[in-house]
Amino acid sequence: MTTWTPNIAQRSGPRYIAIAEAIADAVASGDLAPGARMPTHRDLATRLDVTVGTVTRAYAEAIRRDLITGEVGRGTFVRGSLMTFTPLSNRHDTEPDVFDFAVNLPADGIAADRLRDTLPRMVADPLLNTLVGYPNDADLEHARQGLASFAEVHGVPMAPDRLIVNNGAQNGMLAALLTICRAGDIVLCDELTYPGMKNLARLLGVRLQGLAMDEHGMTIEALEHAIRHHAPRAVYIVPNYQNPTGTIWPRDRREALAKLALRHGIWIIEDDVYGFLAEDSERLQPLAALAADRTIYLNSAAKCMAPGLRVGFMIGPAELLPALHAGVRLSTMTPAPLTLSVAIRWIEDGTARESCRWHRQEARVRRNLALQALDGYTVYGDAGSYHLWLTLPEPWRSDEFTRAARHRGIIVSASDHFVLGRRPAPPAVRLGLGGSKSRDKIEEGLSRLAEMLKAGPVTTFSSIF
Ligand SMILES: Cc1ncc(COP(=O)(O)O)c(C=O)c1O
Repeated sequence: MTTWTPNIAQRSGPRYIAIAEAIADAVASGDLAPGARMPTHRDLATRLDVTVGTVTRAYAEAIRRDLITGEVGRGTFVRGSLMTFTPLSNRHDTEPDVFDFAVNLPADGIAADRLRDTLPRMVADPLLNTLVGYPNDADLEHARQGLASFAEVHGVPMAPDRLIVNNGAQNGMLAALLTICRAGDIVLCDELTYPGMKNLARLLGVRLQGLAMDEHGMTIEALEHAIRHHAPRAVYIVPNYQNPTGTIWPRDRREALAKLALRHGIWIIEDDVYGFLAEDSERLQPLAALAADRTIYLNSAAKCMAPGLRVGFMIGPAELLPALHAGVRLSTMTPAPLTLSVAIRWIEDGTARESCRWHRQEARVRRNLALQALDGYTVYGDAGSYHLWLTLPEPWRSDEFTRAARHRGIIVSASDHFVLGRRPAPPAVRLGLGGSKSRDKIEEGLSRLAEMLKAGPVTTFSSIF
């Protein structure tokens, strides 16, 4: 039991509120750790020189504020946080003997270089003052036109009037879920899916139902079966270079999903952050073209220009626009005009297209190097993908392999990050190829990984009876 004794002398107002506020501060600062047992009412009352009734009222107030929980017969405990938070992964690849294949970032492209040129021009612009305030709708109109033309290049019908500017695809996913789902609703997705969607769904109480995948992604049989049995509200799909498997969802499946969505009144959340990596000749029609009235299309500057711009957009059916707007407004208020202005300038002056071309080429070179280094192993990820899905040979398990690799300075993402619920984690890892500082490091890191695969895990004999 904690002997926590707050100093409430400086706090004004009723004593029980002062104690409840001291509890709030101590939980926020970590002085009271999740799960810690609170002092008994009598003990704290004696130490604070207040009545037991005051402490009882203070604890009731703290329970009402979700800070502590009272368990009859066991005592009072500091509540565990509803969410845990892991720090954003840094690129570790700058250290010579570390090979970081865990971060899923595009390689350092032309962005920093171009920014050196763009920023002085922005500073010289007489309208600079508009970039330091909240943007109004007229300001955003220009951005909508630019982003709609950028989307059109990726096969999305030109629709600036249905385009909402936001702070990236993650922000778009939140606005989409807030718009179309209520807690308890079911959203279908690949059985291996982007962790950002898993986290949002858990937070909002939306139930993700993972569907069986083959080497191209979610199968139509699994989709039809799930529609019949689960009455889903929506399907979340990353049709181009799926995260984590890097595969492209085939044309016939896109057409089938479009038909199913129209027939059953299901929404589609199409996350196309990697679509720009496909060559024009390879690009397949997005769901936003095949079922525009059922699709919320998400895209962003993160992968194709620079993640730090935090600029994204969504294009939705007319009937959802007010709620989608509200979702963005409530979550992030507005996009940041400064970085939005950079992105729009880059779309208009051709830098965005040049950046896409640069990444398309770099991703292909890196993937080829990776495939050579991992020759003989089963690796998924279509041409153009910045991330690959490596199936581990027997007897490797994903967590064991990830630990062993880290021990040798090679960082990869274990499959359990991508599985839903308590499903078993397949023996596979995701390899992000954009985080490496150089192509040489990809060759070197993945050759070491291949040696590990070949050598197999250290044999341990269990002595558990
Ligand atoms: C499939 C997918 N969607 C969305 C995002 C996040 O995009 P943004 O940075 O635009 O929020 C990522 C980032 O890795 C991703 O892989």
